[in-house]
Amino acid sequence: MVDTTVNIDLSGKTALVTGSTQGIGYAIAEGLAGSGARVAVNGRSAEKVDDAVARLRESTGADVLGVAVDVSSAEGVDRLLAELPHVDVLVNNLGIFGAVPASEITDDQWRNYFEVNVLAAVRLIRTYLPGMVERGWGRAIQIASDSAIVIPAEMIHYGVSKTALLAVSRGFAKEAAGTGVTVNSVIAGPTHTAGVEDFVYELVDSSLPWDEAQREFMRLHRPQSLLQRLIEPVEIANMVTYLASPLSSATTGGALRVDGGYVDSILP
Ligand SMILES: NC(=O)c1ccc[n+]([C@@H]2O[C@H](COP(=O)([O-])OP(=O)(O)OC[C@H]3O[C@@H](n4cnc5c(N)ncnc54)[C@H](OP(=O)(O)O)[C@@H]3O)[C@@H](O)[C@H]2O)c1
Repeated sequence: MVDTTVNIDLSGKTALVTGSTQGIGYAIAEGLAGSGARVAVNGRSAEKVDDAVARLRESTGADVLGVAVDVSSAEGVDRLLAELPHVDVLVNNLGIFGAVPASEITDDQWRNYFEVNVLAAVRLIRTYLPGMVERGWGRAIQIASDSAIVIPAEMIHYGVSKTALLAVSRGFAKEAAGTGVTVNSVIAGPTHTAGVEDFVYELVDSSLPWDEAQREFMRLHRPQSLLQRLIEPVEIANMVTYLASPLSSATTGGALRVDGGYVDSILP
């Protein structure tokens, strides 16, 4: 009899989530740990890593470890590899963003966006993919953004870096073709992360309760969203947990949207 139960079980798998002491990365780490994976949390600050590890152990009861390194440097990745040689599920969540006028952004700022948002992911896939291929199973998941497709005028550098990340995912999926390892990206839309509430209240009536304030913000400033509210980090984490699981075995080389319909397009 065929078992058609949808049951996500990541026990026996080791996952690494970059930039996961807060925000979307933290929610992803929690989702993977809650599904039974052993999870490595990452950030540059050892204090924030220790705090996140303690909170995740408390909320999931899972085997959670922390690796405080800067994954945007080759030395950081060398240290990471020494502490964590075996990864089955790699989630390249780390990404920086910020508005800088296109005519003012410097070459060094452009390079920094490339180093952090693109090269760090490339380096980590290159580091962990061979082991996954050798074992015949693995997942590499990159967190992209609606800005990869709808390039914001005030963040061309960010949009370009996320477009590049989609290309990186597609390319490495080809590199891993036929091996049992899948490589995908997730296109996240506007999300309720730290700092977003202050940002929203700067733009709408500050006396409104949060739920109404965010709906007003979306209506006025993000009218393309079909969801008409911000996305919660756990909603992105749910997609990542599915992609990380054996259930997603036929999905590779793809870009999956958790954007609340923000990108006005049928594909990807
Ligand atoms: N927030 C949104 O609305 C949104 C929308 C679409 C896509 N995204 C994407 O989702 C991802 C997560 O975004 P977020 O808003 O949740 O992030 P965030 O809240 O800014 O979290 C950043 C995390 O990355 C760590 N970090 C920063 N630089 C690092 C480095 N060089 N090496 C290792 N860790 C580093 C931070 O810890 P330390 O400071 O201690 O290093 C922290 O844990 C990003 O790729 C972003 O582009 C976000």
